[in-house]
Amino acid sequence: MMANTCIVQCWKGWWRINSLNNEIRRNYKGLSKHRAIASVPNNVKFITSLTGQWARGQASRLHAHYRGLATRPPQYAKRRATTTSASSLEKDILYILGIETSCDDTGAAVVSDTGEVLGESHFNQHNIHLRYGGIIPVVAKDLHKKKIEEVVTTAMAQAGMSFGDLDAIATTVKPGMPMSLSVGTNYGKSLALSTGKPFIPIHHMEAHALTVRMVEKVEFPFLVLLVSGGHSLLVLAHSIDHWSIIGQTIDDAPGEALDKGARRLKLRNIPECATMSGGQAIEHLAVRGDPHAFEFPTPMWKYRDCTFSFSGLKNAVKRITENLEEQYEIEGGSVLPCVEDICASYQYAITKHLVRQTHKAMLFVDVRDLLPKENRILVVSGGVACNQYIRAALQKLCSHTGYQLFCPPPKLCTDNGIMIAWNGMERWKAQTGVLYNKQEIEDVTFEARCAIGEDLTEDVRNLGITVKKWVKF
Ligand code: KG4
Ligand code: ZN
Repeated sequence: MMANTCIVQCWKGWWRINSLNNEIRRNYKGLSKHRAIASVPNNVKFITSLTGQWARGQASRLHAHYRGLATRPPQYAKRRATTTSASSLEKDILYILGIETSCDDTGAAVVSDTGEVLGESHFNQHNIHLRYGGIIPVVAKDLHKKKIEEVVTTAMAQAGMSFGDLDAIATTVKPGMPMSLSVGTNYGKSLALSTGKPFIPIHHMEAHALTVRMVEKVEFPFLVLLVSGGHSLLVLAHSIDHWSIIGQTIDDAPGEALDKGARRLKLRNIPECATMSGGQAIEHLAVRGDPHAFEFPTPMWKYRDCTFSFSGLKNAVKRITENLEEQYEIEGGSVLPCVEDICASYQYAITKHLVRQTHKAMLFVDVRDLLPKENRILVVSGGVACNQYIRAALQKLCSHTGYQLFCPPPKLCTDNGIMIAWNGMERWKAQTGVLYNKQEIEDVTFEARCAIGEDLTEDVRNLGITVKKWVKF
């Protein structure tokens, strides 16, 4: 007999769960059972961990019973995890722990090379920062410090693994809020050094861009629109190590514009929006509003490039709100009666800007012949990509230009540990950016700013792209 833990995974469908539970009850008495539910995009996976004394062969009998339902005991991984040569890696299942702390989310997850999420934990600081009216870096840092151990431990426990079962530890080290990044970077490095595991430093925007490959068959090269609270980027993904910037923001990011707009409109005083992020609240209210009720300026309309700018829109919503509050004699925490129309018009203006710049990027790609004509893909990711209205508008653009649109499920668009673990997995499989050496790992530092790749914006500008007919949505 040996002490062990066995993970039994069962895919969606109650009959499978019940049949699995009956089997365990009949044949595996005396083992303690912990059932966890992990969500995998487009699927729900039930993971049962059995801990106790295993008779030799018992685990593999259970696995055989559930052949096809991906059952595997971590001791196999443990044996393999000590070897790191490329040839042995290709044969077996790989497991990577990802850690994310670049902004206000503390996230951790364990994923396998087939894109299975074995364990995930996440602590969102959003509601705490709401009290301060914005993210205070030092508060974010303290919360990350307080939560990181618990979040990582929970993800590992849900996966039914110990650190020895992992192949590597991936952690966001750039770009982001320096104080927040410092917590994850130090924690991930220390964990890698103390467990003797390789360390994979992750670029946060690269992780957003690659997440989709965990759930969909998206091959390089492809065009990516990354829209979040801190970024607005149009990039070409040539390979995991080669990215080109086609357009980026000169001031605010769309998420930031949405968050500030929501704050100015006092949306959190509307009970149904009280715990939503700014972007979520605006999308929620915009459904009931008229997108053409208020006119917003069109940013960068004079320029024939793909540069973004959201500060003009942000100031416009502030101005419109101030004027209307005066007109309606609104005071204190009260909300304007026409708030839904403002949200809809603001969301429309932001979407229009995103669609137009992406349209120009597609024309640039055509002129420079950067994507294969028969398989042109646009990936949209980052927190703002949760927005269904924006997705639908980009879908119209893609239908018009012959692109296929891919977006990760909303849960994977906002910051999370899964995307970091997956990015680690992609880098591990390509054996690029994986640090094995103690000194190399110790030398890793976080970077608040870091371009994802070479900057082609000058070329875009010089080319002077014109769109004959804008796509309507
Ligand atoms: O990627 P993310 O979680 O963090 C950063 O890296 O910034 O993105 C957070 C941003 C916030 O600004 C939030 O308002 C926005 O994503 N967001 C949305 C939606 N859900 C979150 N924006 C528009 N529509 C949504 N449904
Ligand atoms: Zn992000």
